[in-house]
Amino acid sequence: MLIAQISDSHVVPSDSENGKLMGTCAHLEDAVAHLVSFRPRPDAVLVSGDLVEDGSREEYKLLIAILAPLKADIPVYVAPGNHDERETMREMMRTAGYDYLPEAGFLHYTADLGELRLISLDTLVPGEPGGHLCAERLAWLDARLEEDKRPTLIMQHHPPFATGLVRMDTMGVAETAPEASVVGKYNHVLRILCGHLHRSISCGFAGTMAMTAPSCAHAVELDLQTEGRLAVLREPPGASIHLWRDGCLVTHTSFIGEYGAPYVIAE
Ligand SMILES: [Fe+2]
Repeated sequence: MLIAQISDSHVVPSDSENGKLMGTCAHLEDAVAHLVSFRPRPDAVLVSGDLVEDGSREEYKLLIAILAPLKADIPVYVAPGNHDERETMREMMRTAGYDYLPEAGFLHYTADLGELRLISLDTLVPGEPGGHLCAERLAWLDARLEEDKRPTLIMQHHPPFATGLVRMDTMGVAETAPEASVVGKYNHVLRILCGHLHRSISCGFAGTMAMTAPSCAHAVELDLQTEGRLAVLREPPGASIHLWRDGCLVTHTSFIGEYGAPYVIAE
């Protein structure tokens, strides 16, 4: 079984100032083409938040249109990030067939991935760059973990660990200990799959592993020392490819773009 993950598409109209600078629509189109042609075909695609830049209806319309060829082929599961707008995302994406999103309340849900189970969380705090899992959301997570002990992937936009990226760490999950105390009660959480950092990073967490996927658009600069600085750059966009095989989940990074034909050593 293959689970692909893309993150932080930050879709914004191409003719806007930000769109001209970042070209996020074109990046997401490339990511969709990459995953549609990926072999073996992924069984599901996760999109771990910051789907759009400002949370507008126009942006969600663009996002839905760009994801359509992927969604026609493969189930696509989305989580909200701090750049998303909960109610606009809910209304527009439910209408577009993302009907696993709940009708009201937090945008969290579970999905059956066959041998695996997905629990998607909502760490969004409206108007804040950082995330939070309040008592209500953590109680929901606890109940979902308790009710089904299949190997489980948790998806959430904000990672529950400090990364050393100084500025980004000021906008992580406000408190990580409460989530650790819930996740740590169970031994069937395979991974906590996150976005937000625009880089591929992994860290042990509460007896499992938490990791962030690279952005399918721009990367955040790897700066482990400068306090106030936040910068993005054009490192290769990527997708995480999670391979479930022989009771083990192995994660690869697949770079999106043209890097020349392979030089074949043997076949
Ligand atoms: Fe982001």
